[in-house]
Amino acid sequence: MDDRIGLLGFGAYVPERCMNNQEWTQYVDTTDEWITTRTGIKRRRIAADDETTVDLAAAAAEVALADAGMAVQDVDEIIVATDTPEVYTPDTAAFLQDRLGARRVPAFDLGGSGCAGFLLGLDLARARVQQRDRRILVVGVELISRLMNWHDRNICVLFGDGAGAVVVGRAADAVEIVAATAGTDGSKADILWLEAGGSRVPFSREVAASGAHRKLVMKGREVFREAVHHMAAASRQVLEDAGLGIEDVALVVPHQANLRIIQAVGGALGIAAERVFINVHEYGNTGSASVPLALWEARQMGRIAPGDLVLLTAFGAGFHWSAVLLQF
Ligand code: ACO
Repeated sequence: MDDRIGLLGFGAYVPERCMNNQEWTQYVDTTDEWITTRTGIKRRRIAADDETTVDLAAAAAEVALADAGMAVQDVDEIIVATDTPEVYTPDTAAFLQDRLGARRVPAFDLGGSGCAGFLLGLDLARARVQQRDRRILVVGVELISRLMNWHDRNICVLFGDGAGAVVVGRAADAVEIVAATAGTDGSKADILWLEAGGSRVPFSREVAASGAHRKLVMKGREVFREAVHHMAAASRQVLEDAGLGIEDVALVVPHQANLRIIQAVGGALGIAAERVFINVHEYGNTGSASVPLALWEARQMGRIAPGDLVLLTAFGAGFHWSAVLLQF
């Protein structure tokens, strides 16, 4: 069999502490019923006080390397997708290179691309492997619980912490990346954003006092509409690019933001509910970690068989969106 460019190993990590919906009533005026009916989320993981973003990323990366049967010395490049980095500068990828004990290989973050970051990283890794044979570690990680406002009920109940990782390379038995597509609409940046902390509203004592550094602004209904539209459109596009139809897809693994968004994407694509993977009830929205975590879990649960065509799609702040087609 000819070598294929694709995934050589999969990994994930979630923190031990599990927080259910009821626990949120200690912090905000909410109910398990509201969270369940509006989002489908029942619980999420919360990082321990002594865990940071690189801890989550390294744990997922080590599982992916072991799954690929690789030593860390075999890694030729590292890409980390995150909106909740270790520090502001340098990027999390630098910390991860050091933590893993990898060679002094190129390492960089895809920051700020919201929940679409991991799939953008996958597409980028594929192109770089095509250009020059190499093995690239791609990680999606989010430690959002420490950076969000625990007293803003519009936001805090939606998210959870976690990490997912894959190794991209060339091998006869790789899970092939058949096609990928992505897009951006920056005119909608202010529908889902955190404005303070950059050049526009520099961090200051006043910003800290007002809590603006933790104020993620989200127009929920618009985000919902845009997410459904773009995840469905990107999915159709990637299938068209590959000359395939939705009937060829064994499993859709969408970004896990909200059960209703996932169901609406499945409906728009005309795929049976049992062929759409869902774990948002367990982990909430884990941002860039959501797709690799769901993919890892789908594989662990035996939901993917050899030969299956699996469609990944994500949408996040930016707005950015992406879809990637895998052949197992
Ligand atoms: N508990 C109780 N009430 C709440 C809570 C809560 N945790 N959060 C908001 N509310 C209230 C609001 O204050 C508002 O009250 P008001 O009408 O008195 O002002 C009301 O609930 C809003 O209700 P709806 O408009 O009916 O809520 P909706 O059905 O739109 O659901 C939600 C809100 C869940 C945010 C939805 O719009 C959504 O999921 N949007 C997508 C957002 C998302 O997924 N963001 C994640 C980042 S982007 C991404 O990953 C795709």
